[in-house]
Amino acid sequence: MEDILIRNALEEDFIKIADLGEECEPMETESKSLYHIFTKYFKSTCFVAELSSGGIIGFLLGFISQENPEESYIHLLCVDPKMRSRNIGRKLIDAFLEMATAKGCKKVVLITKPINWNSISFYKKIGFLEEKSGDTMNILGNIAIKNYNGLGEHMVVFYKFLDENKGN
Ligand SMILES: CC(C)(COP(=O)(O)OP(=O)(O)OC[C@H]1O[C@@H](n2cnc3c(N)ncnc32)[C@H](O)[C@@H]1OP(=O)(O)O)[C@@H](O)C(=O)NCCC(=O)NCCS
Repeated sequence: MEDILIRNALEEDFIKIADLGEECEPMETESKSLYHIFTKYFKSTCFVAELSSGGIIGFLLGFISQENPEESYIHLLCVDPKMRSRNIGRKLIDAFLEMATAKGCKKVVLITKPINWNSISFYKKIGFLEEKSGDTMNILGNIAIKNYNGLGEHMVVFYKFLDENKGN
């Protein structure tokens, strides 16, 4: 198989990232403007997976909280459907966790839809834990925070403490 490079995103990647995002249902997609903002102003906390021949086959967009620099957040993660189950998602997460640890973060947080079984299985497999405190509800066996993103927008909230980032 062709070599895959994990590297920081660059501003000029944003259209390719936006196009790949369209193939990543049921993940939410964003306006091109938001992809541009991430790759321009948050590039040190955003990563892409790239084939040695040049195509982008995965991306992770995240940031470190400005309110609490010990907390980081992964907003979107996507691997090209044709390239799944080859540890690319795990490598993108590892790159983010390594960066966040180096920058002094203690925790990483992300959310996903309760119907997104693939991502829920993936995050549990790589050692993320479901937030179970607060106003929760059980949706198809998953713990979601009720109305997390507004009325009816229940979300599974995952977290991981970075000092536990060993061997997952
Ligand atoms: C979730 C996603 C990023 C996983 O990417 P991936 O590259 O296929 O995952 P990996 O190959 O790195 O998998 C890492 C581990 O998770 C497991 N895993 C991945 N997807 C899984 C699934 N659907 N069910 C069960 N386990 C799964 C793998 O088996 C692997 O474990 P192993 O190394 O012990 O075999 C990918 O499915 C995707 O892009 N989904 C659509 C977008 C999305 O929903 N993003 C998340 C919400 S923002």
